[in-house]
Amino acid sequence: MIGFNLQKTKRHFTEVLSEKFPQREAEQLMRILLEDLFGIDWNQQLMNPDLRIDEYQHYQLGEAVKRLLLGEPVQYVTGMTRFNDLLLKVSPSVLIPRPETEELVQKICDSFQNSKSSLPCHSAVESAAMSFQHGHVGKRESMAAVYKRDNLPFRIWDIGTGSGCIAIALAKHFENVEVVAFDVSEAALLIAKDNTESNGAKVTFVQDDVLHPTSDYFNQPVDLVVSNPPYVCDSERAAMEANVLDWEPEKALFVPDDDPLRFYRQILALAKKQLNPGGQVWFEINERMGEEMLSLCHEIGFSNAEVLEDFAGKPRFVKTWAAE
Ligand SMILES: C[S@@+](CC[C@H](N)C(=O)[O-])C[C@H]1O[C@@H](n2cnc3c(N)ncnc32)[C@H](O)[C@@H]1O
Repeated sequence: MIGFNLQKTKRHFTEVLSEKFPQREAEQLMRILLEDLFGIDWNQQLMNPDLRIDEYQHYQLGEAVKRLLLGEPVQYVTGMTRFNDLLLKVSPSVLIPRPETEELVQKICDSFQNSKSSLPCHSAVESAAMSFQHGHVGKRESMAAVYKRDNLPFRIWDIGTGSGCIAIALAKHFENVEVVAFDVSEAALLIAKDNTESNGAKVTFVQDDVLHPTSDYFNQPVDLVVSNPPYVCDSERAAMEANVLDWEPEKALFVPDDDPLRFYRQILALAKKQLNPGGQVWFEINERMGEEMLSLCHEIGFSNAEVLEDFAGKPRFVKTWAAE
C-alpha cells in the first residue's frame, strides 16, 4: 500500500516527542501538527484508522518534530495559530497571540454590547437593539452620541499590533468602524496585512514608533484605544520559559526595569489629547503593575480607571475612559 498509516505514524512521532514533553503535551502537539499542517481534524484522526499520509507528509512531520524538540513553539513550526475565531499566520517576527489577549478582546466587545452605547456588531446586532429598546442607560452613552452625531465611523487605534490579532478581531466584530493599527516593526506589519486579507477584514496599518510618533493619525480624533504593548521587565527574563526567550521577538516583550510603564504613559498621553468624549482606553498589563497603572491613569488626567482580572483571577487589564 502507498504511503504510511496515520495511526502508526502518530504513535511513532508521539513517542519521539515524549522524550522531551509530558505524554499529554506530546499527544496534543501531534494533534496540532496533523490539523494545521495537513488539515486532518481531530475527528478524522480518531475515527479513521485506515487514513494514510504520503511520503512527503511523513518527511514534513519528521522535520516539524525535530523543530519542536529544539524548543521552537508549535505555532512557529506550523506557521499559524487561532485567535477567537480567526486563523492567523505567525512567524518569529510577531508575538504568538495569547489567551489573555483573546480575553481582552472579548471584554471590549462585551463592554459595548452590555451598554446602551452598543456599537452595531456583526454577531450581536439584535442584542444591541434589544438593550437599546429596553432603555438601559450606561456610562458610555455619549459614545453612541458621538458615533451617531457625526455619522462617522467609530475610530479604533490598536497600538503595537503584531500579528494584527486585536485589530482584525475588532474590525470583524463591529460594524462601521475604522481600525488603524500601528507597529514599529515592518516585518510584523507584513504578517498583519496578510492576516487581514485572509480573514476578510479591513484595517489600516501604519509603521510608526509610538514612543516618538510621527503619524498624522495620532493627531486625529479617536473613540477607542487598545494596546497590548511590551510590558515584561528585563529582570523577569530569568523566570521565563526558554521557548519564549529563544524564539519570540525581544522588541515585542521587554521594557527596562527603570521605566516599565513607558508605553502606557505615552499611549495615555496620546489618548488624552485625541479621545472623543466618553471614549475608552483598554490595555493588557503586567499582572504586577495594577496599582501603578491606576496611579498613572490618574496622573495623566483620566479620573476613572479600573483594573480587571483574567480567567485565572490575575489583574491583567486596565480600562479607562474620557469624561463625557
Ligand atoms: C506584546 S506585543 C503585542 C502584539 C499583539 N498586539 C498581540 O497582542 O499579540 C507588542 C507589539 O508592540 C510592538 N512595538 C514594540 N515597540 C514599539 C514601538 N516603539 N512603537 C510601536 N510598536 C512597538 C512590537 O513590535 C509588538 O508587535
